[in-house]
Amino acid sequence: MNILITGGVGFIGTNAAIYFSKNKKNKITLIDNFSRVGVDKNAQFLKEDFPKIKIINSYVGAIKNYEEEIKTANAIIHLAGQTAVTMSIKKPHYDFKNNLLESFILLDFIRRKNPKATILYSSTNKVYGDLKRRLYSRHQKPIDEDEKLDFISPYGCSKGAADLYFLDYGRIYGLKTVVFRQSCIYGPHQIGVEDQGWVAHFAKQFLLKKPITIFGDGHQVRDLLYVKDLIKAYQLAIKNIDKVKGQPFNIGGGINNTYSLLQVINILDKYFKYKMKLSYQPIRVGDQKYFVSANKKIKKLLGWQPTTDFNKGIKRLIYWQKNNIAV
Ligand SMILES: NC(=O)c1ccc[n+]([C@@H]2O[C@H](COP(=O)([O-])OP(=O)(O)OC[C@H]3O[C@@H](n4cnc5c(N)ncnc54)[C@H](O)[C@@H]3O)[C@@H](O)[C@H]2O)c1
Repeated sequence: MNILITGGVGFIGTNAAIYFSKNKKNKITLIDNFSRVGVDKNAQFLKEDFPKIKIINSYVGAIKNYEEEIKTANAIIHLAGQTAVTMSIKKPHYDFKNNLLESFILLDFIRRKNPKATILYSSTNKVYGDLKRRLYSRHQKPIDEDEKLDFISPYGCSKGAADLYFLDYGRIYGLKTVVFRQSCIYGPHQIGVEDQGWVAHFAKQFLLKKPITIFGDGHQVRDLLYVKDLIKAYQLAIKNIDKVKGQPFNIGGGINNTYSLLQVINILDKYFKYKMKLSYQPIRVGDQKYFVSANKKIKKLLGWQPTTDFNKGIKRLIYWQKNNIAV
């Protein structure tokens, strides 16, 4: 199978490339413009350990650079994008271009030139807004796909609009699109920074013995999903595309892998055997106090559920960081 992955040397992209290249029959091509600082190391790793994977340095919107690869792809996994809410507020035009405009250019080219391809889009739990109304509920429950869409922040708007475009192209043109509204993903090859990828950022700060700033009270709750579990869901969706095409899926670590920021700090305190120095800033725009993915629909249709316990997954992330981040 020909698999094209945009954002292919990013965190999720690198893990997807590794996973899918284990099947020797797959031909993998990665598109990435290397705009995320540090991803050149992922590219270097892939070049050395997986030399058969083709890496094309290009913007997603510059279709000419990889036209043939799109036309001949059986599956396209669209991961490329600007990933930080903070950056989207600072540079909304940049965010719009990278997340919505370029996604649209890619999607519409697929419609015209390869409408039979399977297309996965990596959306986000941010399409449900800050879920403020849930703050007042005594009995919070995991979020399913019927939750009201509510785009807060330019990032929410650009990801959410692209999310709806992918679904609508499934409806109107019959494209085989699937949208994953991903919760918080973590794992090896993740270059976490303060603005995005908080689990990896926290672990890195512990390794480097640098302080951590918490935005808000630290009681925000997320269900944390180990990246390999996510890729397994991608693989199942590709394999069972007729069951899932045209649909969105909330996907996360679920109730068993739900932690607050302070609980993760506590786990890391114990692992590294020292007490992290914390400082506090006001909560950031659009931040959700609570997000836990119901995972019910994906379980029902694909039999998927998370299998990696956070306490195991975090150790694998730290192991990777120890070998890849200069301490
Ligand atoms: N990591 C998470 O927790 C998470 C959660 C929800 C959704 N997502 C979505 O999943 C996708 C992948 O996330 P990630 O964590 O791997 O991020 P990442 O930043 O590690 O990877 C994204 C990659 O896309 C590349 N890129 C950015 N704009 C591009 C463009 N216009 N053309 C070509 N390449 C471009 C970057 O260089 C980077 O390598 C993103 O779309 C993100 O919004 C991630």
